[in-house]
Amino acid sequence: MQEMILILDFGSQYTQLIARRIRELNVYCEIHPYDKIPTLDDSIKGVILSGSPHSVRDHDAPVPDLSGIGERYPMLGVCYGAQYIALKHGGEVEPSVSREYGRANLSYIMDNDELLTGMTRGCQVWMSHGDTIEKLPAGFEVITSTADVHVAGFKVGNKPVYGIQFHPEVYHSTEGMVLLHNYVVNICGCQQTWTPSSFIETTIGELRERIGGERVVLGLSGGVDSSVSALLLHKAIHKNLHCIFVDNGLLRKFEFETVLDSYKHLGLNVRGVDAKDRFYDALKGISDPEDKRKAIGRTFIEVFDEAAHEIRDVTWLAQGTIYPDVIESVSVKGPSATIKSHHNVGGLPDLMNLKIIEPLHSLFKDEVRKIGRELGMPPNILTRHPFPGPGLGIRILGEVTPEKVRILQEVDHLFIERLKEHNLYDEVWQALAVLLPVQSVGVMGDERTYENVVALRAVGSTDGMTADWSRLPQEFLAGISNEIINKIPGVNRVVYDISSKPPSTIEWE
Ligand code: XMP
Repeated sequence: MQEMILILDFGSQYTQLIARRIRELNVYCEIHPYDKIPTLDDSIKGVILSGSPHSVRDHDAPVPDLSGIGERYPMLGVCYGAQYIALKHGGEVEPSVSREYGRANLSYIMDNDELLTGMTRGCQVWMSHGDTIEKLPAGFEVITSTADVHVAGFKVGNKPVYGIQFHPEVYHSTEGMVLLHNYVVNICGCQQTWTPSSFIETTIGELRERIGGERVVLGLSGGVDSSVSALLLHKAIHKNLHCIFVDNGLLRKFEFETVLDSYKHLGLNVRGVDAKDRFYDALKGISDPEDKRKAIGRTFIEVFDEAAHEIRDVTWLAQGTIYPDVIESVSVKGPSATIKSHHNVGGLPDLMNLKIIEPLHSLFKDEVRKIGRELGMPPNILTRHPFPGPGLGIRILGEVTPEKVRILQEVDHLFIERLKEHNLYDEVWQALAVLLPVQSVGVMGDERTYENVVALRAVGSTDGMTADWSRLPQEFLAGISNEIINKIPGVNRVVYDISSKPPSTIEWE
């Protein structure tokens, strides 16, 4: 039985980070909303209560039903979770004198406390709370303090129940991993056996069992998630996996050919479908970004559907859905749960009444990469920047035409190639070029020109939710601008986007 840590989510922005850190310790864990506690069984080795944007003093504060949990499993409350445990047992939680946000240092650490073993007095921790535990219930003990917060951590008598006011999962808590290791390994007794190779082995076994001798169809996009899903399925069911890779005419230059080639080298049973003209036809006369997305999505479904129908007796549809797409996030406004929609796969599930299989549904992106590496996925697929489903269609502002696609492919190709040559490609999270619907005056030789403007954009990010523009070296920018204007007919001006997200977005449409 796969051992796991159960994380009950009260809506904190850091909940996913707790899960990622625990998995870095090779321990499997799952996030569940505090009001949808899964069946409690022996696979659960410990429970973590997350932070929350709520105050425990709010009249509508989230209240979990911990019956059957507190007595059975070791428990760790983080921030809101800690305050909740203290308040529930008769402690006092009051608004902080000033909201405590940012770095603090642990000025006191109790000797020989199992949770804090190996942490250094004075180490930095990350605080983010508007309430403070002023008084602990009888039988609770302070195990650590900062200069401003007496109860920075507590334990409940001799029980393995702890609360901490700071966030060990945040990078700025420099010894946070020591604490989490103490909790999951020493206190909960987890074996740390959840590794990429153990995941691969278990998943292949499960896939074989579920699918049996039936056939699966999967749409490859050239991206990491669909490619790793395909490799896992390929290892499990070999030729019964049928992959379809659609050329929508909005891919990068040479992308269709090189990616198809890589897939074939990996032994995948893949069919490339050239549907460029159908997509260009569907996009004629459309300039609104959402209408373009819809037209591209609709055409993709038609093309995929037709190609899938040519495979006899197919009963499964595989998708590259990953964990952040399926976690139910507790909304700040209350316990109503919302599920993020996965913008790559909209519409496909209803198709052809296929059963859905999602081999990566429990993994974070960095874990998908690790699995891919272990499976022998080539770096050109594994480390590539994210690329949106609608492709260059949302990077050509206004109406999309084959000619505009050709210009943008050339610009994009030069930009990406030069980033790689200057060892900058892996430094940025995503880089792209946008063709603006703007002509500007230029001069080339003795001639006046009146041609297109392109914008280059490169950003740093961890998950695409927020992003900062990359400070690419000026020399690099000067060189690429010159080269684009000199080599690519139709472009006479290059600008560099220096906006961050928020308030801007990464893509322009
Ligand atoms: P934004 O522009 O919202 O982008 O800051 C965040 C990330 O999502 C990608 N993106 C998309 N991916 N279909 C996709 O598959 C889309 O319609 C889409 N729009 C944006 C974007 O490239 C970035 O990585």
